Amino acid sequence: MCGIVGYIGHREAYPIVLKGLQRLEYRGYDSAGIALYDDKNLKVSKTKGKVADLKAKMESELDSTSGTLGIGHTRWATHGVPNDVNSHPHLSNSGDLVIIHNGIIENYESLKKELTKRGYKFESDTDTEVLVNLIEDVIAKEGVKLGKAVQIALNQTVGAYAIAVFDKKKPNEIVVARLGSPLAIGVGKDEYFIASDASPFIEFTNNAIYLEDGEMAVVRRDKGVKVRKIHDDSLVDPYIQELQLNLEQIEKNNFDHFMLKEIYEQPNAIKDTYRGRLHAEEGIIRMAGIDDNLERFLNARRIIIVACGTSWHAGLVAEYIFEDLARIPVEVEYASEFRYRNPIINSDDVVIAISQSGETADTMAAIKLAKEKGAFVFGVCNVVGSSISRETNAGAYTHAGPEIGVASTKAFTTQITVLTLIALKLAKAKGSMSNTDFHMHLQELETIPQKIEIALQGNDHIKEVAFKYKDARNCLYLGRGFNFPVALEGALKLKEISYIHAEGYPAAEMKHGPIALIDEEMPVVVIATRKGHYEKVVSNIQEIKSRQGKIIGIVTEGDTSVRDLADYVIEVPDTIESLTPLITTIPLQLLSYHIAVMLGKNVDQPRNLAKSVTVE
Ligand code: M6R
Repeated sequence: MCGIVGYIGHREAYPIVLKGLQRLEYRGYDSAGIALYDDKNLKVSKTKGKVADLKAKMESELDSTSGTLGIGHTRWATHGVPNDVNSHPHLSNSGDLVIIHNGIIENYESLKKELTKRGYKFESDTDTEVLVNLIEDVIAKEGVKLGKAVQIALNQTVGAYAIAVFDKKKPNEIVVARLGSPLAIGVGKDEYFIASDASPFIEFTNNAIYLEDGEMAVVRRDKGVKVRKIHDDSLVDPYIQELQLNLEQIEKNNFDHFMLKEIYEQPNAIKDTYRGRLHAEEGIIRMAGIDDNLERFLNARRIIIVACGTSWHAGLVAEYIFEDLARIPVEVEYASEFRYRNPIINSDDVVIAISQSGETADTMAAIKLAKEKGAFVFGVCNVVGSSISRETNAGAYTHAGPEIGVASTKAFTTQITVLTLIALKLAKAKGSMSNTDFHMHLQELETIPQKIEIALQGNDHIKEVAFKYKDARNCLYLGRGFNFPVALEGALKLKEISYIHAEGYPAAEMKHGPIALIDEEMPVVVIATRKGHYEKVVSNIQEIKSRQGKIIGIVTEGDTSVRDLADYVIEVPDTIESLTPLITTIPLQLLSYHIAVMLGKNVDQPRNLAKSVTVE
């Protein structure tokens, strides 16, 4: 939920930490802070607001930003409102220890009570300030070094964390630890980087250690990295991974926003998703995670999909695809509900967990529950090495590349692509599809990137439509069958970045309630492509028209029926019904994007949100 960055080495830490925070701002952006140590002085600066506000504050407030040791934090508030005092880094009472933290210490109140009795004072409302004083108290009581004190303190906590802490009296080391929140250590030559993901240090090193849950490390400027288990103190031989990330992937290039860049990346992202897996000419799909576990899937009583937000919408699309093509019963659950409702699930079930970030707390909890009950859990994640990808029994990455805009775009279409490949593979193995149909699907899937390119060419027209409806206060999105989840996703995109209230509904459900909302003020976006229940959707459009609703139709190229009824139509290329969501989604993403830009909203960092939701 928050982003953490650290540096220890021979370079100036400030520009590295600052840039790193800018790259991690997608994780939280209500306040930010940096602590630097320059061999003599500790300099701490923090503020409510964005990293840009922090930069302005630091550069006006501090005489110098020098120092080869530094840590920084960008926050998404959990305990305590976003203000300067609650911002990280936090200092211990002596002023010696400095900490940054991503996560929640659930038992902080009881720890705080104990520490208060022992004379500790607290300035902020945060759980993090409690943790840094707990570490200080361990040092005072037990006379141990910082690493040991962190370990003892963490063993008294309940909750989740990725932390980095240093002692200004021993400025040659930073101690880090993780449980439930990600933490990577970039390994350079006599220099080390710490971050919530590898983006802050990608231009300095390609080598990284990803700490596992329950591990901590002492990172020494001169002696390297020593990793151990927090719980039992055993040493761990760290695996240094070579990163595949490059700078271009995490920069905006010529786009105004990451969201727009990521919308435009979809043709290539989908190709990356099916590259090496889809062999249309040979009529083969290769996916190691499925090949190795084919029997589990084929013998499954049902598939249960767990996810949140946009990933849940991808799961709903998959429900239609799996049931239609592979004839396997599917249930789709909000991970946050599933984890608390004592679901009936056993070893005959296969659970598919979908998550872009691979860090979503509710999805993670749902996976653990499903595993406890004996189910086989398969992950569909984008972030390589993420917690969910490690927790699942097997999985398939989407290979969409980093998604930085808080509103998911390419994650959605690449998740659908992976899930379609899985459904097709199972359909082939089960014989639930004819060979001809199977081949036709593979060939059509291969043409989707090109068809998305064509859909993207409608951008200028979509911008005109956006201008027309930017002042709407409410908006309805309707779709049927495979495109009902797309309507939900379209509505979510509009809500989260423009703050316009929007609802998605199955088109036919409109008459059971939402129709009462329709008047001449209400824009209704209707997905009415020629495949699927076209005539029925056209009837729904007639119903809206007769109540003076404003109709924006997403239609197949060349459509005339909807054009005659609608106020605007946005054309998309034709494809087979099960693949239409991959194309109809595109204009809805662009429509939300342009409306939000026209309203002056912060598209990449919408209010109150964060990219990965690592709290309940
Ligand atoms: O990383 P995940 O896919 O697990 O994230 C799930 C949701 O938090 C995420 O899709 C969220 O709804 C996005 N802001 C939607 O654009």
